[in-house]
Amino acid sequence: MTTPRTGRTFRIAAIPADGVGKEVVAAGRAVLDALAKGSGGAFAFAWEEFPWGCGHYAATGRMMDEDGLERLKAFDAIYFGAVGWPTVPDHVSLWGLRLAICQGFDQWANVRPVHFLPGVRSPLRAADDHDLNWVVVRENSEGEYAGLGGRNLSARGPGGEVAVQSSLFTEVGCERVIRFAFDLARTRARRKVSSVTKSNAQQHGMVLWDEVFRRVAGDYPDVETESVLVDAMSAKFVLRPQDLSVVVASNLHADILSDLGSALAGSLGLAASANLNPERRYPSMFEPVHGSAPDIAGRGLANPVGAVGSAALMLDHLGLPDEAARLHRAIAATTAAGVLTPDVGGSAGTEEVTAALIGALDG
Ligand SMILES: NC(=O)c1ccc[n+]([C@@H]2O[C@H](COP(=O)([O-])OP(=O)(O)OC[C@H]3O[C@@H](n4cnc5c(N)ncnc54)[C@H](O)[C@@H]3O)[C@@H](O)[C@H]2O)c1
Repeated sequence: MTTPRTGRTFRIAAIPADGVGKEVVAAGRAVLDALAKGSGGAFAFAWEEFPWGCGHYAATGRMMDEDGLERLKAFDAIYFGAVGWPTVPDHVSLWGLRLAICQGFDQWANVRPVHFLPGVRSPLRAADDHDLNWVVVRENSEGEYAGLGGRNLSARGPGGEVAVQSSLFTEVGCERVIRFAFDLARTRARRKVSSVTKSNAQQHGMVLWDEVFRRVAGDYPDVETESVLVDAMSAKFVLRPQDLSVVVASNLHADILSDLGSALAGSLGLAASANLNPERRYPSMFEPVHGSAPDIAGRGLANPVGAVGSAALMLDHLGLPDEAARLHRAIAATTAAGVLTPDVGGSAGTEEVTAALIGALDG
């Protein structure tokens, strides 16, 4: 058992949103409440659930209430499911909820660990949970998802419209996330940061990123570095993943690379993520990497490991590192025991895996 550290009640806003988001957030809440119950009063969670998402959009015309950010400000953290459903265009649902929160709360660092778990067979046949383990740090406030641009000239008639989608790279934005990656590398067994760009083809913003990376690296002589183009890095994820520790990349590149990483580990359903406002001026948000999975939603098949791994990242952020480690151990014990959802080759449902996770908390 761990020593009680806080005696605090954490106020958490739950936003399950759409599809399997509802199922995995329920699973994550059950695991966290079991953990709190076993803490002997050391800490507790006070949940408030918000019904925002595509259903809310159908009823109100908005993905979240107009004063949503104002109401969320009061919470210690946000526990998020997944947003998106075939009834609403994806760019409307994503911008109306998840990106509105990330940008509104300046959650500029998105931390996405890739965990290889015992009992889950990776497509990298030789891989196991001992030698592979890296973390993707995604710039989460600008880059390709800055939302700059527009559509025009539709008056020219069919085929005549144009669209401009600009990327935004600021020196401040690059520096803060690159520094964050170096600080994170110093906490890991292998002190190495791999910077990813496509600066050969994108000669403005990504060259600025490369220059800032080289300058910041000078402040961390104890940390190994490399700069790799995104296409080469995608090959490296498959061919030499043992050479990775912290991978820092722009919003779009890290989004794609982290899905590749979690697929290599076995499934998108395993991947956790933290959207951090490191200065703590706003609440940070913790969510599985996957989407709302309409193909399996409502059938009790969703893998809750990504959502529970995200809960562990939330515990770390709340100052409960021992409890976070307990959740990681419970996840490993559950997968090692072969209690797995179908996406990773098992036959257990969400509830069975959740019960096994809760049962493994004492271990
Ligand atoms: N962070 C987010 O909220 C987020 C992220 C990605 C996609 N989306 C949205 O989700 C919707 C569906 O997108 P998509 O199909 O491209 O991606 P998806 O992540 O929902 O699904 C991709 C594949 O992974 C599987 N999968 C996902 N989560 C799983 C889980 N917990 N357990 C088992 N299998 C799981 C799905 O069954 C599907 O085969 C879209 O509306 C999209 O915009 C939201």
